[in-house]
Amino acid sequence: MGVYEVKSLEQYFKVYKRSVREPRKFWSKIAEDFVWYKKWDQILEYRLEEAEVKWFVNAKLNITKNCIDRHLAKRGDKTAIIFEPNNPEEPAQHITYNDLYERVCKMANVLREQGIEKGDRVCIYLPMIPELAVAVLACARIGAIHSVVFAGFSSKALSTRIQDSECKMVITSDGGYRGNKTIDLKGIVDEALEDCPSIQSVLVAKRTNTEISMKEGRDQWLQPLLDNVSNVSVAEVMDAEDPLFILYTSGSTGRPKGMLHTTGGYMVYTAYTFKNVFQYEEKDVYWCTADIGWITGHSYILYGPLANGATTVMFEGVPSYPDYGRFWEVVDKHKVTQFYTAPTAIRALAKQSTDWVTKYDLSSLKVLGSVGEPINEEAWHWYNDHVGNKKCPIVDTWWQTETGGIMLSPIAFSTPTKPTYATLPLPGVQPVLMDDKRNEIEGNQVVGSLCIKFPWPAMARTIWGDHRRYKETYFSAFPGKYFTGDGALRDEVGYYRITGRVDDVVIVSGHNLGTAPIEDAINEHPAVAESAIVGFPHEIKGNALYGFIILKETGEARNRENLTREINQYISEHIGPIAKLEKLQFVSGLPKTRSGKIMRRILRKIASKDTSNLGDTSTLLNPEVVSEIIENAV
Ligand code: PRX
Repeated sequence: MGVYEVKSLEQYFKVYKRSVREPRKFWSKIAEDFVWYKKWDQILEYRLEEAEVKWFVNAKLNITKNCIDRHLAKRGDKTAIIFEPNNPEEPAQHITYNDLYERVCKMANVLREQGIEKGDRVCIYLPMIPELAVAVLACARIGAIHSVVFAGFSSKALSTRIQDSECKMVITSDGGYRGNKTIDLKGIVDEALEDCPSIQSVLVAKRTNTEISMKEGRDQWLQPLLDNVSNVSVAEVMDAEDPLFILYTSGSTGRPKGMLHTTGGYMVYTAYTFKNVFQYEEKDVYWCTADIGWITGHSYILYGPLANGATTVMFEGVPSYPDYGRFWEVVDKHKVTQFYTAPTAIRALAKQSTDWVTKYDLSSLKVLGSVGEPINEEAWHWYNDHVGNKKCPIVDTWWQTETGGIMLSPIAFSTPTKPTYATLPLPGVQPVLMDDKRNEIEGNQVVGSLCIKFPWPAMARTIWGDHRRYKETYFSAFPGKYFTGDGALRDEVGYYRITGRVDDVVIVSGHNLGTAPIEDAINEHPAVAESAIVGFPHEIKGNALYGFIILKETGEARNRENLTREINQYISEHIGPIAKLEKLQFVSGLPKTRSGKIMRRILRKIASKDTSNLGDTSTLLNPEVVSEIIENAV
C-alpha cells in the first residue's frame, strides 16, 4: 500500500489536496494495490441527496483473498492474530496466516454445508476468541453477511437484531470469560431464539465447558463439524457493492439501526487508513483493545490490519483483571508497537497507581491511539506521559459505525498532535461545519454541526431494510451532505475537536446508547408512567445516564429502592447492563413544551448540576415542575 502513504506533514497536505481535487483518481490508485477478480468500470457513482453511493462499480473481489490468501506466499508463517486469553495463566495463541487460511476455509466449508449461501445473514454472538475472527472471515469468504452482536448485549437486544435482519444462523459459544465472571452465552441465545423463526441452526464453539442444553435439530457443536471438512475453500466472487456486514448501532429513536457496509470500498478504505494512521510496519505488533462486536474491532482488529498483512492482537479480557496492570503486561509480553484503546479505559487506569504501568517494559510502543468518545485533557496527558513516555504520538481517531473507518485523525509522526483534538481529515475526507440555517461555516475558530460533503469509500450504504430511515437520519438535516450527529469546533489552524453528540445519543464508556430505547424499556415497568433519560458528565465513563421517572399512582406506595433495582433490571434485560442508570429521580412531572415535547435541554442541565442558566421556562406547559426537580435532584 505504498501509494499515497504519508510520511510528513508537508506530504499530508499534498496528498490531501490531491484527494480532494481528484478523488476518483486518488482512490483508484490506492485500489490498484489490491487483488480483484475484475477491476471497476467506474470509480464512483453517487447522489447524496438520495443517500445513494457506489464505489468501484462492477468490480469483483473477495475481501478474504486480500486479507489472507495474498499474504500466504510471503507471510504464510507470520503471525496474523495473537490471541491473548482472559486468564493470563492460559498461554497466548499465535495464529499464522497459514493457520488462519486453513481455519477460515474450514469454517467456510462448514457454513456452506449447513446451507448458508451468498447473501444469507449469519448472526455471530461470540466472546473475543479466535472463532469470532474465523467466523467473521468465513462469512466474508462465502459471501454471507455477518451481523456480529456484542456478547454483552441481552437476549432481547440479540433477538431484536436477529429478527431485524432475518438471520438464518447463530454462531455462539457455551460461555465466555470476562475478568472473573463467566457469562452464559448459550443460555442468552436460547432465550433470544424463542422469538426468532428465521433461525435454522446454531453452531456452538466450546470455550468455558459450561453445561448447556442443545436443542435437537437446531444446535450443533462446532468442532466436530470442522473436523470433517476440507481445509480448502473457494472464495465467492463478490461485487464491490455486495454487502459485507450489518452492524447495529443505537439511534435516537427506538429501533437499532442495522448499518450495512459493502465490500470493495470498505476494504480499500480500512486498509489505507490503518496503514497511514498507525504507520504500521512489517514487524510491528498492533493491538486494538476493542471488541469485534463494535465497528472498531471490525475495521481495526480484523479487516484493516489483515489487509495489510499485519500482526493483530485479540484480547479476550478486561483492563482490570487480574489487576490494573493487565494492559501493560500484555504490551510488554507481546512487544506491542501500536496500542489503540478508548478514553474510558484510560480514565479508569489513570485512577490507579502508576506503579501498575512502571512495573512493565513499554519501550516497544511507538504509537498510541484513542477512539470512541472525546478524550479529556487529563486522560490525554496521563496516556502521553505514563504510557507513551512522551515519545509516542497519540492518534485521537474520530469516526463512527456509519463511516466504516477513521475520518479525522492525526497521522502518526506527521501531524503534530494537540490534546483533545482529532486534528485533520484523512486524505479523501471532506468535513464541513454547518450552522443552524444549513449554511456551511467558512474559516477557522468556528463551531458547528459536523458534516461530510463528499462520499468516501467505507461509508455505510444503507440501514438494513430501511433506506428511507437512512436517508432521513443522515442526509436530510443538511441536504446533499452526510450529517454525523456530532458537533465540532475548528481551531485557528483548522484542527477539529469533537464537542459531542447533538442528538439524543449518549456515549457511556465509549458505547453509543440511544435514550429512546432505554426509556421504552423503563416504561414497560408496570409502575412507571413516563420517563426521560439524559446524559451527564462522569469522571470515568465520560457520560453516565440520569433517569427522571414518573410513577403511576400504584407505584407511589412501593418501596423506592426496590423500584430502582427493578427498573435497572428491566434495562439490563432489554438492552444490557451497560445501559443501567447511574442516577434515578422519581418526579411528579417532566418539563414539557406546549406541544408536549419533553424539554431535554433543561433535564440535561439539571443532571449536570448546572442550573444557573436554564433559559426561559415560563413558556413551558408546567413550569412549576422545574423547581421541584431541581430541589430533589440526586
Ligand atoms: O460522538 C462520536 C464518538 O462516537 C460516536 C460514534 O460511535 P460509534 O458508532 O459507536 O463508533 C465508535 C468507534 C468509531 C461519534 O459520533 N466518537 C468516536 N470517536 C471519537 C468520538 N468523539 C470524540 N473523539 C473521538 N475520537
